[in-house]
Amino acid sequence: MILRSAAVRAPLRGRLRPPGDKSISHRAVILSGLAKGESRVEHWLASTDVRATMRAMCQLGAEVTESSGVLIIVGTGGGRLTAPTRPLDMGNSGTAMRLLAGVLAAQPFDSILTGDRSLNARPMRRIILPLEGMGASITASPEGTAPLRISGNPGLHGIDYVSPVASAQIKSCVLLAGLYASGSTSVTEPRPSRDHTERMLPLFGVELAGPCAVEGGSQLQGGHVEVPADPSSAAFLAAAALLVPDSEVEMTDVGLNETRTAFFRVVEAMGADITCRNRRHLGNEPVGDVTVRYSGRLRGIEVPPEWIPAMIDEVPVLLALAAVADGPTRIREAAELRIKESDRLAVMAKALQAAGITAQERGDGIDVKGGSPGSARVDAADDHRCAMSLAVLGLTVESGLVIDGAGYIDTSYPGFLEDMARIGADRLAPAT
Ligand code: S3P
Repeated sequence: MILRSAAVRAPLRGRLRPPGDKSISHRAVILSGLAKGESRVEHWLASTDVRATMRAMCQLGAEVTESSGVLIIVGTGGGRLTAPTRPLDMGNSGTAMRLLAGVLAAQPFDSILTGDRSLNARPMRRIILPLEGMGASITASPEGTAPLRISGNPGLHGIDYVSPVASAQIKSCVLLAGLYASGSTSVTEPRPSRDHTERMLPLFGVELAGPCAVEGGSQLQGGHVEVPADPSSAAFLAAAALLVPDSEVEMTDVGLNETRTAFFRVVEAMGADITCRNRRHLGNEPVGDVTVRYSGRLRGIEVPPEWIPAMIDEVPVLLALAAVADGPTRIREAAELRIKESDRLAVMAKALQAAGITAQERGDGIDVKGGSPGSARVDAADDHRCAMSLAVLGLTVESGLVIDGAGYIDTSYPGFLEDMARIGADRLAPAT
């Protein structure tokens, strides 16, 4: 799909609940599918990524019913997990593939995990290594990519894994395998990554054996998950409000888990006016209603590298803000961005340059000098977050940006164009 996005004439205004959190929705579907009995998942993200996880759990024997926006899942606990008769297709979703690999490595049957072209090019050794350390047997391509052929081994043993990268996908993969392994399993990371798995396990009756540890043989019981609004999706609406003069947008039920909210901390440090009220919890996750007001020209920033894991998915949209900020923005220790759905540092640098902005890729980061982007044709490289970031940037360009490769937005934010239209972005639409 090709998008066209151009400057709006009036401020953006509105109050809305951004879509359900993608990471939490994946985990809710997986844990419900593994649990014994019935689970209920409210406000889940009905995106193509989460539907891939749902389809896979159904292939493994779970029963999923969608009713008035709620998922009712009858899980496979108590020995009902069945061997898939076909490869499990995870589409575009790294989370789906890496988390399920942990589960499947421990089963008494073989399975194959595959995905689309982008997913089948992403590194999988990062999960194969710890799983092999637990006794698993997994074959990948010579480059260490999917399809993954998993020879299930119900005799896995626990591990104390010291991960070289801060990655919730690696951590969750190992913890899920640990639920089926003998002994205890723990994961230590260089910096804390999102902790949704750890927060959700107790909702399914599994107490942690340490801050990031599980005891093998723990049986999941059906649970109830209320999914907060995704702070990563909220970031696009927030950025739009920060780019269009006099805007004010309120977003309700936004996930405020500290392992996810560094984007909001960074834009506040750049001068953004952000307030939060009605702080509370949905399940074990903190949420609140967040209001973002246009705050004049933001200031460029040197992003503290220790904040990167807590804003890893928001770096592309931060770059859109940096492109029009006053002064330089510097991002380092963000090499993980090169192995997301696209090489996000390269894709964003090229797009910003095409729009006349000085953007210089570095090995593990990027430097952007704020300016005044001009009309251009840019390529989001089939990456949902790059597409939405460039769509938001287009709101500052009088004669607009044309964005190629914008067809994957539904993987994380179905309804993005509708939500943007609701707050007044009336010059953002598919190009005809
Ligand atoms: C996710 C973890 C992050 C993030 C991804 C979702 C998760 O990936 O980029 O969008 O749900 O665990 P890494 O764990 O590879 O950093």
